[in-house]
Amino acid sequence: MSWWREGVLYQVYVRSFADANGDGHGDLEGVRSKLDYLEWLGVDGVWLTPIHPSPNHDWGYDVANFYGVHADYGTLDDLDALVADAKRRGIAIVLDLVPNHTSSEHEWFRDPAKRDWYVWTDEPNNWRSTFGGSAWTFDPDVGRYYLHNFLPEQPDLNWWNEEVRAEFDRILRFWFDRGIAGFRIDVAHGIVKDRELRNNPRLSRGDVRTERTYNMNRPEVHDLFRRWRRLGDAYEPPRLWIGETWVSDVAELARYYGANDELHLAMNFPFTLGPFRAPALRGIVEAAERAYTADAWPVWCGSNHDIVRFPTRWSRGDEAKIRCALLVLLTLRGTPILYYGDELGLEQVPIPKDEQLDRAHSRDGARTPMPWGPRSDGEWWIRHGDLTRNVEQMRDDPRSTLSFTRELLALRSAAPALQSGSYATVAAGPGVWAWRRGDSALVAVNLSDRRRIVRGVEGTIRLDTRQERNGEAVSGRLELEPWAGAIVA
Ligand code: NOJ
Repeated sequence: MSWWREGVLYQVYVRSFADANGDGHGDLEGVRSKLDYLEWLGVDGVWLTPIHPSPNHDWGYDVANFYGVHADYGTLDDLDALVADAKRRGIAIVLDLVPNHTSSEHEWFRDPAKRDWYVWTDEPNNWRSTFGGSAWTFDPDVGRYYLHNFLPEQPDLNWWNEEVRAEFDRILRFWFDRGIAGFRIDVAHGIVKDRELRNNPRLSRGDVRTERTYNMNRPEVHDLFRRWRRLGDAYEPPRLWIGETWVSDVAELARYYGANDELHLAMNFPFTLGPFRAPALRGIVEAAERAYTADAWPVWCGSNHDIVRFPTRWSRGDEAKIRCALLVLLTLRGTPILYYGDELGLEQVPIPKDEQLDRAHSRDGARTPMPWGPRSDGEWWIRHGDLTRNVEQMRDDPRSTLSFTRELLALRSAAPALQSGSYATVAAGPGVWAWRRGDSALVAVNLSDRRRIVRGVEGTIRLDTRQERNGEAVSGRLELEPWAGAIVA
């Protein structure tokens, strides 16, 4: 038992969540002012996207000081106040750790004594930046090329240098000592590079694109996670490690849990980016269930700040489909991570080209301000989308998406089977995905356009996606309308 296994996590994109001082972007005081809401919703932990000083070439993922708080977001005192206030409500605060790279404006990058803290070469290999182009940029002051797996303003750190490891141990302790409950690790699979900087194999002959054999997912990264796990385990409660693990092979993914001595949660992107179809998602979940050891705990999410929000990508704005997705996310075995706005069914916002702020891809549409009310609450750094789905109006409507999500969370926290029960697929007709959680709960979701029947189901409907069958007795046959689902216990 641990708070994050049974619990639900909530990702806050700090810049867009809540603006306490009205200067156009979110801040820590804003997050604190919404703790009532988060407690009411029923989440157990909040992951904040990077809060550190940053020139924002990659919106905080280019960190210029790992020990500080960006002036836009407040001060260390504000963070301490947030952590303390959240703790009183039983909510843990998790930060984002960006160890793969720093900002090119970090003082380490300009310090000749710390040259070897970064990765340099005289002859660039064929590695490509995730954001396009060569992963190497010539630095005229140094007369050599430096590595950046992302923007040129994000030079990669050299994790073969023991000083870098020791410095990050200090950074981790600095935050853990302040009561931070854990970290989501950015580019977790990519931190350690091939020591010899070997060329990646090409995808095909003549193609500039390559596999990521030598710049990502190297075996040595696991030593680092074992080291960090030991460091975090020395705290009470032990600190949580969540990895942003972009690996497609489930056996590789399972390795990030180690022998219960590495990450606690390794994100499963094949699931997140999978098609919203019963056989595909069921197959991915079953594969994880088979590949993970008994100690390894899955984690599921549908949206984040890098991809198209699931109400658009999976559900195309269709309310019935949005609810099916929420039901799946919150009842599989594992920890769900809701991205702010998921609970409203918030959709991706189209951002006109001339308003795009993201230099990498167009990820802005997943980063728009949290709609607290039906009207725009001032000028934000980025435009609001449609405000029809907003907290103020949905909160008091028992039939809203928000109320449905909240009911799901409440049911989950009251039902040990939904929190920690085992997962077992139940045979069901085409387009239907049904599974048992432990001995006492069954979840079924009809991801098809036809009415379907799941057989062999006994019990009472505790919640259905249309919120109209609560308390209905089921004996033998569970009928499901198209794009509807239910929990029976
Ligand atoms: C993953 C983060 O989620 C993304 O926003 C960022 O651009 C890259 N890592 C680089 O830090």
